[in-house]
Amino acid sequence: MRTLIYPGTFDPLTRGHVDIARRARRLCDRLYVVVLRNASKRPAFDVAERRDMAARCLADLDGCFVEDYDGLLVDYMMERGAVAVVRGLRSESDFRYELEMVAANRLLYESFESILLPSSSALALTSSAIVREVAAYGGDISAMVPDEIQDEVARRLVRPEYRHRLEVRT
Ligand code: COA
Repeated sequence: MRTLIYPGTFDPLTRGHVDIARRARRLCDRLYVVVLRNASKRPAFDVAERRDMAARCLADLDGCFVEDYDGLLVDYMMERGAVAVVRGLRSESDFRYELEMVAANRLLYESFESILLPSSSALALTSSAIVREVAAYGGDISAMVPDEIQDEVARRLVRPEYRHRLEVRT
């Protein structure tokens, strides 16, 4: 049984992440999407919220399991018996970042492998930070965020002075 892991902060999950998860699932028997801690980020949503939102968006994907984990990615990989992690690749700068992550993870676990999936072009320049920024101003996030969590993300992140923009759209 081939197991892959798709790790991330997912603050929040975007359509780009869903695209990567669906494509990764075709490459394995079991896919674990795992919400981890990135020490350099202060997420807007807590771990349980991020995990639950991801689970809702991926509920229809058989063989895909959403979890959270407080620890090193390599330890989680070994616990799950995964052969590799999957990461989305949007740009050259992602590539550099991913190479650094591979190098660090390989020092911790010499069998560490990562599969880099190029993002689908229409989603290539979205990010959770852009979602958070647009949502803060009550902007329309529907092109970037899955239907299942759009409302929750919009209501949680909108600044009070822009809340009226949400009411206009509903
Ligand atoms: N579509 C849209 N956005 C995407 C994307 C895609 N296909 N792929 C990546 N992104 C964006 C994310 O939205 C996020 O944007 P943001 O920075 O604006 O919030 C950014 O790219 C990268 O975030 P994400 O994919 O969620 O992962 P990350 O780089 O924050 O995750 C961890 C890093 C959590 C995997 C890493 O810190 C980790 O392994 N932590 C566990 C502890 C550990 O083992 N540390 C040692 C690691 S060497």
